[in-house]
Amino acid sequence: MFQAPKGTYDVLPRDAERRGILKSHVQRIFGGAGYRRIETPAFESTELFARGVGASTDIVQKEMYSFDDGGGRSMTLRPEGTAPICRAYIEHGMHKLPLPVKFWYLGSFFRAEQPQKGRYRQFWQVGAEAIGAAAPETDAEIIVLLAELLDAMGVKGTRLRLASLGTPETRVEYRDELTGYLHAHESELSDEVRARIDLNPMRAFDSSDRGTQAVMANAPKLLDRLAPDDAEHFDQVKRLLDVAGIRYELDPALVRGLDYYTRTLFEFSSDALGAQSGVGGGGRYDRLIEQLGGQPTPGIGFAAGIERILLAGAEQPIAPDPVDLLVVVADREDRTAAVAGFELAREARQAGLAAQLELTGRSLKSALKHADRINARYVAIVNDQKSATLKEMDSGEQHDLKATGVIATILRGSRLA
Ligand code: HAM
Repeated sequence: MFQAPKGTYDVLPRDAERRGILKSHVQRIFGGAGYRRIETPAFESTELFARGVGASTDIVQKEMYSFDDGGGRSMTLRPEGTAPICRAYIEHGMHKLPLPVKFWYLGSFFRAEQPQKGRYRQFWQVGAEAIGAAAPETDAEIIVLLAELLDAMGVKGTRLRLASLGTPETRVEYRDELTGYLHAHESELSDEVRARIDLNPMRAFDSSDRGTQAVMANAPKLLDRLAPDDAEHFDQVKRLLDVAGIRYELDPALVRGLDYYTRTLFEFSSDALGAQSGVGGGGRYDRLIEQLGGQPTPGIGFAAGIERILLAGAEQPIAPDPVDLLVVVADREDRTAAVAGFELAREARQAGLAAQLELTGRSLKSALKHADRINARYVAIVNDQKSATLKEMDSGEQHDLKATGVIATILRGSRLA
């Protein structure tokens, strides 16, 4: 027997409902703020991600599905959407459009990770990007809209962590300072942290070791080292979030696995999720478009995992699809009656009714049971080419009609006078 590949899953019709609801919230919330849908290809040149996401990131080093396209070019199933959208922005000369250019997207992405609850190899993201605006209001807008989306989906127990990374230059200087500080306190650190001082000094902030935590309480913080205009930008983002009533925690050690970030960085998590608690996050990427060969252009965006939104979100009451009419042909051996039934269902749909034709050859009795199960309002039993019996399921009333009168009778109202 075949099974879905490890780390992948099927979206069955019953699961598709909540995804549809999510999409309509995205359209309403982001569409209402001037974001328009964009979709980029499922694969791109490997070089785009190496340059965009960063050659030394886990994503690029370990998690990409890369393959030769048959012509000697290396392609990669997209692990994320920001680099592709910036590629599309440059390719289509969108800097000529009124700025900022605002996009939302919803699609599947691929990372070769160890699967667990909330972590898949093919997963879905909803995201948005605002390109061409540096104003802190843009940052706050993105965060507010994402908060609204999570709220609309009933995502429980959310927590927003916020930081600013400043510029890459500030970061290099800060990293040197932090590394020096850690070396000066080596004897008080856990073995694990000590071994990684030069490799990844930021990890020390996440340590659960008491001694390390004591050292880190007095460690220099990047937020205190920001250049004045970066610090001012961040202050305004915080002020706007305060005014919007969005609660956040400043996290000096917030790290996200992508290299393109500058300035604002944020992540929503939910304690309704297990180990994979990150629901969605993002940040500013003011150097990315230039790195990909475009004009210097600021940008900010987010992506959220749809599986995680659905796991942490509220069950929503899902109304079954309405069925106005089930057409049953009394004697399917009668070819002309079968044609009349087929036509009746088709014409009913053209008239705007949700109409289905009984397709399995059930007996009349079990067709009526089936009509009950699918909640059909009416059943039309096609007796022959010309005549039908229309039964209203709620009242049980039934009438013999000309086949041509069935649709008009249903449209006229529910009572079969
Ligand atoms: P990311 O944090 O790598 O950011 O992914 C965003 C979200 O996608 C995560 O918070 C998580 O919910 C979900 N996600 C990531 N990997 C998996 C997985 N293997 N299985 C299930 N869900 C997953 C980005 O992708 C950036 N492009 C976000 C961004 C947009 N930054 C600026 N603009």
